[in-house]
Amino acid sequence: MIKNILLGRPFLVVFNLTRRCNSICPMCSIWKTPSKPKDELTLEEIENIFKDLKSYGIKHVFLQGGDPLLRKDILQIIELLIDLGFNPTLITNGLLLDEKIANKIAELKCNVSISLDSLDEKKYKKIRGVDKLPHLLNNIQKCSKIKDKKGMWHITSTISKINYDEVMDLFYFARKNGFKFNAYPYNYSHCHSSAYDEEMSYDDNPTIIIDAFKKLSQLSQKEGLIFDKLIYDESIKYIEGNYCAPCDAMKRSIILTEKGEIAPCLEFNPSANLKEMGIKQALKQLDYSKVKKCYIETPCFYGCTRGSGIIIRTIPEIFLFTLKNPRTITSYIRAYS
Ligand SMILES: C[S@@+](CC[C@H](N)C(=O)[O-])C[C@H]1O[C@@H](n2cnc3c(N)ncnc32)[C@H](O)[C@@H]1O
Ligand code: SF4
Ligand code: SF4
Repeated sequence: MIKNILLGRPFLVVFNLTRRCNSICPMCSIWKTPSKPKDELTLEEIENIFKDLKSYGIKHVFLQGGDPLLRKDILQIIELLIDLGFNPTLITNGLLLDEKIANKIAELKCNVSISLDSLDEKKYKKIRGVDKLPHLLNNIQKCSKIKDKKGMWHITSTISKINYDEVMDLFYFARKNGFKFNAYPYNYSHCHSSAYDEEMSYDDNPTIIIDAFKKLSQLSQKEGLIFDKLIYDESIKYIEGNYCAPCDAMKRSIILTEKGEIAPCLEFNPSANLKEMGIKQALKQLDYSKVKKCYIETPCFYGCTRGSGIIIRTIPEIFLFTLKNPRTITSYIRAYS
């Protein structure tokens, strides 16, 4: 992985295991064109592809979709990836994360991120398209009672004009239930995987979203959460429209679709298929100049394409912080190494 960082090669693969979903979020386009299970990569194909990705130096995998828990073989996939030496993070809307499956995942060294954008039933329904907040909160409560989770468990919120005023409540809710908390801005500049929703968009009043991220940045600084603070500060620059760190799609992270195709990020059309060629050859078919044009002219801010790059670019700041707060950093290293 260190070699990939130094060479500017991806070390994170965002694996969209399926396009099937049990929510119909207006901010997302994926659920509108669900995949057929028969067209999704089989466990054997996943194994072949990930062996190649591992030998290329990729270490981290985000398992998302659609909703990854709709794959009946999700536990086998997680186990396979761990056996191959990957560090997986499951990203889910949490609706299928019942006690039984949550307990099984907690026994594995797999990080989990549950998407929760609101604690208000009406707002949740507006953002997720389904009336399921009580069900999700019930699942989260059950997860919070699981002791000795091997991975790091997060609650992640996508911040828009609907829920900007809930960021602090969501942060403290996550903490009260034993989760870490992350927030990212709602993206709608491309609408390939994302989708435009009038009520969620904030072009007419970005200040409310900027203020929400400022609050999170201050709180993270106070709590010694250096990685979170650095990412919130970059989110603010992005929303303000000022200089924002380069997007690292294709350089640090890559998308793998349910069919085996790769793309620089969620907003680009996929092309080369890893069922037919190795990652080294497939990457040669992608064009970084298109990513560069995109982040200069029509940027967006996804955690997968921004997070790792921001952290690498701010290593001196992180180093100084580590000297003062060794314990915070140790917990991150345990989860992500
Ligand atoms: C595409 S979803 C897939 C995993 C799962 N279905 C879920 O919702 O958690 C991954 C993450 O992207 C977020 N997301 C979806 N649409 C977005 C958008 N337009 N802008 C920013 N984040 C978005 C979701 O809230 C979720 O946290
Ligand atoms: S954001 Fe996640 S839960 Fe919502 S429709 Fe998209 S894939 Fe499904
Ligand atoms: S800014 Fe980066 S992640 Fe966003 S659409 Fe452009 S290349 Fe993709």
